[in-house]
Amino acid sequence: KQRLYSGMQPSADSLQAGNYIGALLQWRKMQDEYDAFFSVVDLHALTQPNDPAELREKTRRTAAQYIAAGIEPSRSTLYVQSHVRAHAELAWILSTITGFGEAGRMTQFKDKSQRYGADATSVGLFTYPVLMAADILLYKTDVVPVGDDQKQHVELTRDLAERFNGRFGETFVVPKPVIQAETARIYDLQEPTSKMSKSAESQAGVLWLLDEPSVTAKKIMRAVTDSDGTVRYDRAEKPGVSNLLTIYSALTGRPVAEIEDEYAGRGYGDFKKGLRDVVVAEFEPVRARALELLDDPAELDRVLAANADRAAEVADATLATVYERVGLLRRG
Ligand code: TYM
Repeated sequence: KQRLYSGMQPSADSLQAGNYIGALLQWRKMQDEYDAFFSVVDLHALTQPNDPAELREKTRRTAAQYIAAGIEPSRSTLYVQSHVRAHAELAWILSTITGFGEAGRMTQFKDKSQRYGADATSVGLFTYPVLMAADILLYKTDVVPVGDDQKQHVELTRDLAERFNGRFGETFVVPKPVIQAETARIYDLQEPTSKMSKSAESQAGVLWLLDEPSVTAKKIMRAVTDSDGTVRYDRAEKPGVSNLLTIYSALTGRPVAEIEDEYAGRGYGDFKKGLRDVVVAEFEPVRARALELLDDPAELDRVLAANADRAAEVADATLATVYERVGLLRRG
């Protein structure tokens, strides 16, 4: 089996619909076909200010949502990044072969550092993609399913793998990003030209997986549309409606054209009600299962620990080879 790796930041109490549709749905499908590793990247989350107790809680909650959404910890390796020390260690080694300018060209870094200002921008935020490369390369990963926004980071990972292999001999597998075109970007329901994000300023356009069904319903019924009145996919002219169609199609597995036909000649109200029912029916059982798992944190922690052992076995072997290749003296 080929190896798959992906992860998410525990940056909020709940995942949002973009994480679910753009990432988790794919993960769930792919876990049968691949030897899959899924991490909760808590070290990455440290690049944003965090309350320590809250970060711990968000980490558990993120893991619970993976499982509730159908990632099976007996089949896939589902673990917390900081439980496997090799991640931070390989990130250091990779940072020594990463160009300063190369890291500075990462658009996510440019956006975030502009938003925060130079003083609030940490070196950790700058080297964030190098840590992500370490995540991926430790597991000899073949494929990395992600949303559009992570593509550049996977490209950097490929460059680093090739560079390392070129300098020190074949060590890493060069991974490929897997991006599902239709769902690569889910947009904010109130601002359908910006991607839906855990860090959005307003909550009104963000659908949280763990929201109460009534809250989810309200957000969908209030989603921004347009004055044209026809349910038709047109990303440029009708970003709001197009986004809703994308969500509808992703969750039902039905083609957009078929949904357009179903709602032809009917208003946006009907369409939104249809979508509301689809989303609530999808999220409700996931929410219930996640809350149930969170009722027994000790059991959840046990599952995560066992999976971290499995991950560490693979990661430590890769790291040992890397240490050897770069010329670090082995401890006698
Ligand atoms: P993160 O936590 O921001 O997002 C997790 C995953 O969700 C996808 N995603 C979206 N997809 C479609 N529409 C959206 N609006 C949307 N918002 C988020 C992201 O593309 C991602 O796939 N750096 C990564 C985490 C990471 C990682 C890794 C991923 C760390 N190490 C190794 C893969 C492999 C991140 O911050 O994702």
